[in-house]
Amino acid sequence: MKKTAIAPSNIAFIKYWGKKDEVLRLPENASIAMCLSNLLTTTTVEFDESLKEDEVTIDGEKDAKKSKRVSGHLDLIREIAKIKARATVVSKNNFPSGTGLSSSASGFAALTLAGVSAAGLDLSEKELSIIARKGSGSACRSIPSGFVEWQDADRDDMSFAYSIYPQDFWDIADVVVVVSNEKKYISTTEGHKSANANPFMKVRLERIGEKIKRIKKIMDEKNFKEFGELVEAEALELHSIMLTSDPPLLYWLPNTVLIMNFVRKLRESGLPVYFTINTGQDVHLIIEGKNVKKLISEIEKIEQVKNIIVNHPGQGTHLSLSHLF
Ligand code: PMV
Repeated sequence: MKKTAIAPSNIAFIKYWGKKDEVLRLPENASIAMCLSNLLTTTTVEFDESLKEDEVTIDGEKDAKKSKRVSGHLDLIREIAKIKARATVVSKNNFPSGTGLSSSASGFAALTLAGVSAAGLDLSEKELSIIARKGSGSACRSIPSGFVEWQDADRDDMSFAYSIYPQDFWDIADVVVVVSNEKKYISTTEGHKSANANPFMKVRLERIGEKIKRIKKIMDEKNFKEFGELVEAEALELHSIMLTSDPPLLYWLPNTVLIMNFVRKLRESGLPVYFTINTGQDVHLIIEGKNVKKLISEIEKIEQVKNIIVNHPGQGTHLSLSHLF
């Protein structure tokens, strides 16, 4: 049975950084994110008794390291479905991967739903989110739609994401400003490992519960100014921890800083816009839907900008009838 799933990437407003359990990918803290309507992975999976090994093609390429990670994830699905057959997997991103736009989130969410369905299983959103988490932590947040919370938990069966508001709850956008297609020099997985030894993590974790409560209250009230200020401060806190880790993680390029400063100037000129950044050089600009056009006309003036990708709150992972092979 051939099955295809489409999954969104997501942007975290309160980030996941560091793990309580490396193998199960249990995060140090809860996180809050939004699924992105225009950063998508499509994946087709078919189990086939005649195959000796999984055959994995991602964006037209066969890469041994990526294939191993995909096979490991398929093993989890095979175990649940009690099947042994290897699979053909073809996956395509509509955006560059490995540059900090969270293709592992959309990738493992799509692989989870396509794999589970191709294995003949019909699982709940919660069960899918738990499986996706084990492929890449943030992938669990790409299963439900709209604005999501990945709750803090010490147990495998309690660590999953759910929708806290639907897609149409709040008309805000994530305008991704691509400043380079350079691949990140240290993977996010390696980055997470350095968090535990960082003394500043203690302070972060002492305050994170309050932060989660605060952002949910601000979102309830749709107070965009307070929301943006908190999201930006959170991104800078995360990057302070990355910068003071061993080895230090500096994901910014000169053009990242250029955009960060430009955002401040736009704000000073009266346009309410805020930034957040993950493990990469590209900048996510958070803005109200009504101001997206104005923002784009300003960003287009910057010659260092390579691409602009506009995202609204997106649909979670879902099946599609058009297969990739
Ligand atoms: O799910 P991972 O291992 O790719 O980690 C995601 C880490 C950040 O993007 C920096 C933060 C987040 O919550 O998305």
